[in-house]
Amino acid sequence: MSIRIRKVRPSDLDAILEISQHIWEGHDYLPFVIKGWLKDPNSHTYGLDVGNHVVAVANLRIIEEGRTGWMEGLRVHPDHSGKGFANAMTNHIIRKAVASNVQRIRYTTSTENPASLKLAEKFGFIPILKMAVLWHSPVKVSPFTQDYPKIRKSSPSQIFDLLEKNPYLMPNRILVYDWKALDTSPNGLKTLGKTHEFYLALKKGSIDSLSYAYLRRRKQRLQWIFTIHATQALGFASHFQYNLSKALEQDCEGVTCTYETAFEETLHQANWLSDEHWSTHMVLLEKPNR
Ligand SMILES: CC(C)(COP(=O)(O)OP(=O)(O)OC[C@H]1O[C@@H](n2cnc3c(N)ncnc32)[C@H](O)[C@@H]1OP(=O)(O)O)[C@@H](O)C(=O)NCCC(=O)NCCS
Repeated sequence: MSIRIRKVRPSDLDAILEISQHIWEGHDYLPFVIKGWLKDPNSHTYGLDVGNHVVAVANLRIIEEGRTGWMEGLRVHPDHSGKGFANAMTNHIIRKAVASNVQRIRYTTSTENPASLKLAEKFGFIPILKMAVLWHSPVKVSPFTQDYPKIRKSSPSQIFDLLEKNPYLMPNRILVYDWKALDTSPNGLKTLGKTHEFYLALKKGSIDSLSYAYLRRRKQRLQWIFTIHATQALGFASHFQYNLSKALEQDCEGVTCTYETAFEETLHQANWLSDEHWSTHMVLLEKPNR
């Protein structure tokens, strides 16, 4: 039977949806994004074809004005796992990214995904950022009494100027949102600003904490997805509560919060979380292309 890697076509959609059904107990995001990838000129979606049937898939998206090759959505049908197909797909995507002349290739994965971490190691990716991720439902807010500067809505250009003046807030200068990443450049912030809202708090005119968020609707289910950066636990806690109230206002059934690992204790010691939560760590991996 012939085996080859080729561009995915709309006629492969059913085969891809069939792969997704087996991934993460059917909670895979691929069905919500695959049609968008196929229409997006910056996305290059490849499939591993065994006898004219796609059994593995992955997407390469060229972002940040061509600087970054973003790798996402690597999936192998469980009937074909352990045959080296993820190795082959990763190798293919890297070759395509290199041919596109990107400066670096990036992807994120969970620290609890050993196969994905193994692939990173094999192909020379290094971890450049680790963040905690919390999924929580239902959305409940307990009153927050401690004194902290008012959190207010902001704009990408204002955030850029403030971050220039206080680099300590985000030393990595990377915006991490919903398992993706962009640099805190004017264009990165502008791109994120198309889908997200920014909220900040100032102390003596300097940015002390920042969060960015968007409302995600999938199958009529609303989730408030947000990321927090803060210099201290109080700023983190204030943004956490602020975003929970935003989620509540919009009748969300859950929230996903990405935040610095330094605040894990703060979150888990506080009495805010119900039993229905799940947490993990996300790692951003990078392979320089030099
Ligand atoms: C992760 C996934 C892509 C692996 O696909 P696969 O075709 O079975 O992987 P391969 O056979 O190419 O193996 C890739 C490497 O990972 C290693 N590996 C696979 N499963 C592993 C595990 N559970 N623990 C440690 N290493 C593992 C393999 O040994 C291999 O390394 P090697 O070549 O040095 O032996 C597949 O299981 C999948 O689709 N998972 C769900 C989605 C997912 O997690 N995607 C990853 C990116 S988010």
